Amino acid sequence: MQKQKVLIVGATSAIAGEVARIYAERGARLFLIARNPERLATLVEELGEAVAGSCAGDLNDFDANGQRIEEASATLGGLDRAIVAHGLLGDQLASERDFATAREIVDTNLLSALSLLIPIANHMEAAGSGCVGVLGSVAGERGRPRNFTYGAAKSAVTTYLEGLRSRLYPSGVGVKVFKLGPVDTPMTLDHPKNALFADPASVARGIVRAMEGRRFATYLPWYWLPIMVVVRWLPEPIFQRIGFLSGR
Ligand SMILES: NC(=O)c1ccc[n+]([C@@H]2O[C@H](COP(=O)([O-])OP(=O)(O)OC[C@H]3O[C@@H](n4cnc5c(N)ncnc54)[C@H](OP(=O)(O)O)[C@@H]3O)[C@@H](O)[C@H]2O)c1
Repeated sequence: MQKQKVLIVGATSAIAGEVARIYAERGARLFLIARNPERLATLVEELGEAVAGSCAGDLNDFDANGQRIEEASATLGGLDRAIVAHGLLGDQLASERDFATAREIVDTNLLSALSLLIPIANHMEAAGSGCVGVLGSVAGERGRPRNFTYGAAKSAVTTYLEGLRSRLYPSGVGVKVFKLGPVDTPMTLDHPKNALFADPASVARGIVRAMEGRRFATYLPWYWLPIMVVVRWLPEPIFQRIGFLSGR
């Protein structure tokens, strides 16, 4: 059987690293892209011969992303699965008062994702197969004071993926979004932990499972689905009166 050709972008993120380990254990051939060259080299060494190639670079260098996808596809001989995992939560309060901070959050979570999705989609559409998935967030479901700059970017990328799915549907290419609740990773290092926090390994298992499933959008862990039904549909006057939802 042919080995699955898997591209992982933002591969050194805590969650993406776990995703890479699962695919490596399954015998896939991987191409990894991440910003930090040392951390990338460590992951490449750990995964050994499963890694066909890798490249390090800042994904907010949008113009370089097309070439990075070319390199990944050429090295692997096509793309069966692509997972876009990098992201930046950033400083919410600073982003409300300083445009440069807001722009970095939007650039990282939205525009760099688009600069990757366009060449990935072109490759998969031309091949007539494949599946691309992006790590989204429950923060994108409703604007909340704690993280609405990040949430707005994640929401926009989710909307973009809905349209991309329709574009690629006739060619048989899958488009997935994973709506993650809080996960215990470097991104949430300073956040007080509670029972709703998930661990990166179990979220990664959910992502790999969902890449093969039929659903477009998957909440991870699953319990965010019923929670978000309530959060999304609460009428605004009620939402604003519930402090733990509408407050910081
Ligand atoms: N943790 C959560 O609670 C949570 C909840 C919902 C969604 N998510 C999403 O899950 C994904 C993975 O996050 P994580 O929790 O695993 O956090 P993480 O370990 O902090 O990973 C974030 C990754 O994004 C990379 N990154 C940020 N800006 C970049 C840029 N300009 N160019 C290249 N790479 C860049 C970081 O690279 P460096 O190592 O170089 O900084 C890091 O590897 C993200 O998309 C995040 O938004 C996380």
